[in-house]
Amino acid sequence: MNRIICITGASSGIGFELAKFFHQSNDTVLGISRTYPKDVSFDYFLCDVADESSVRETFQRIREKYGRIDVLINCAGIGLGGAIEDASFDDVRYIFAVNVFGPFLVSKHAMDLLRNAGEARIINIGSVAGEFPIPFQAFYCMTKSSLHTFSKALKMELKPLSIDVCTVMPGDTRTGFTKNRIKPPVEEDNLYRERINRSLGRMEKDEQSGKDPSSVVEAVDRLLKMKRMPVSVTVGFEYKLFMFFKRIVPERIVDYFLFRMYGK
Ligand SMILES: NC(=O)c1ccc[n+]([C@@H]2O[C@H](COP(=O)([O-])OP(=O)(O)OC[C@H]3O[C@@H](n4cnc5c(N)ncnc54)[C@H](OP(=O)(O)O)[C@@H]3O)[C@@H](O)[C@H]2O)c1
Repeated sequence: MNRIICITGASSGIGFELAKFFHQSNDTVLGISRTYPKDVSFDYFLCDVADESSVRETFQRIREKYGRIDVLINCAGIGLGGAIEDASFDDVRYIFAVNVFGPFLVSKHAMDLLRNAGEARIINIGSVAGEFPIPFQAFYCMTKSSLHTFSKALKMELKPLSIDVCTVMPGDTRTGFTKNRIKPPVEEDNLYRERINRSLGRMEKDEQSGKDPSSVVEAVDRLLKMKRMPVSVTVGFEYKLFMFFKRIVPERIVDYFLFRMYGK
């Protein structure tokens, strides 16, 4: 039986590569985002994951057309750069609405369709940034650590219902994420100006020379072949190593290095 795989954020970057890969593997792919991808060879639903009525209406259409979902991949997400002191409440609310409330709303409105599959899976695309908070990206890191927590709790709630949940944590990946990051303007006389420019400049360079999105596709494909998925997986050897060091090294040492890399 071919699987029905629903992917949010399928118009670009990681979500688009996932959609293309599973479509070519003969799964039925349902892509979701606010705009269409350049090449839509799979079924597509325009939807803003931050807006509950849009999510409700989208899953009603999917319910009528397909009746079930085997795999849900919550991939839609955005970044926000800048100093905490300068952040507007609207931008902070918006990034939480997309990165945290989006996966909640999508999972909630897809749940009966996942139950209809008998055995189903939810994969939430988190980030190593959720495990290593860095300056001038505080709110993005906060959304990803919230998503990791959401994902762990959801896994336990759904365990008796045969719906397995996993968080996939990529590191720097070459996608549209860098250009789509919200960056409020920083005035000439801003106290943090030089540090913001240095920090975000370094981050953007690392992202654009980062891994190909196919690294995340391979990780997700491996997960879907497993009988039971782990609570979370980190993508890439170097990021797995960072996660290992984080567990064994005192927190102040981790903070020291992160400050030197992104705070000075
Ligand atoms: N790139 C990295 O270095 C990196 C590292 C770790 C984790 N991640 C995570 O990977 C995921 C995918 O990001 P990416 O790197 O592939 O970035 P991307 O190329 O910018 O893709 C982001 C996707 O999210 C969709 N999206 C944004 N806001 C949305 C909304 N309100 N409703 C529906 N869809 C929305 C966008 O589509 P529309 O604009 O058409 O709506 C787009 O398809 C994100 O969750 C990101 O946090 C990325």
